[in-house]
Amino acid sequence: MTAHLSVRGDVAVLVPAAGLGVRLGPGGPKALRLLRGEPLLVHAVRRIAAAPSVGCIVVAAPADAVDDVAALLAPIAPVTVVPGGATRQGSVAAALAAVPAGFDIVLVHDAARALTPPDLVESVASAVRGGHGAVIPVLPVVDTVKRVDSDGVVLGTVDRSELRAVQTPQGFRRDVLAKAHEAALDDHTDDAGLAERIGIPVHTVPGAEAALKITRPFDLAIAHLLL
Ligand code: CTP
Ligand code: MG
Repeated sequence: MTAHLSVRGDVAVLVPAAGLGVRLGPGGPKALRLLRGEPLLVHAVRRIAAAPSVGCIVVAAPADAVDDVAALLAPIAPVTVVPGGATRQGSVAAALAAVPAGFDIVLVHDAARALTPPDLVESVASAVRGGHGAVIPVLPVVDTVKRVDSDGVVLGTVDRSELRAVQTPQGFRRDVLAKAHEAALDDHTDDAGLAERIGIPVHTVPGAEAALKITRPFDLAIAHLLL
């Protein structure tokens, strides 16, 4: 059954899903790889659609799979599917261009974080609604972190207490995200990095373990156990 997005939802979610999934190994684009019988993208969109704030979802799909992805997601939730770009940043920009007027809060959420709980979508959205121009979910870093030189010799130990691992969804006032992308000169792995570059303060909220990014086969195995 297709989920109905909230008609009062004031949040648009962009879902970059056009990556190749090279680090996951052979088997096609990562967003379409199966986890307990369903593509990662289906898991991700189902959870986004379950967040009450969400009124619009735009997916950036591999360019040759736009129609297939639209057909795949139609039974899950009403979504707009656009062709992604050569980089994640290009895919986010393509999805942003397809957001209709009226959505002043925009979240960017990787399809690869397929098990992200709807609560995390809500908490990022509510921090933006509360007045922050850019918001990211973060977790403390648990490992000891060291800097090393090109030979692998330790240069020093980094103070872990001020480090955070960053997740998605990342949330923005729409004008902030648009400006950050317009000003982008080089490729960034996250959108908050672009906002930082134009001097926007980035607020943090607690992330969620379940929002882990599925990057390597080990992560897929963990996600399988979590489901
Ligand atoms: N992504 C995208 N367009 C690209 C590259 C990445 O939409 N040109 C998306 C991926 O589909 C993923 C998210 O950005 O949902 C985070 O990227 P990553 O985890 O690196 O996924 P892939 O690029 O697919 O994986 P890899 O780097 O191992 O090839
Ligand atoms: Mg990648």
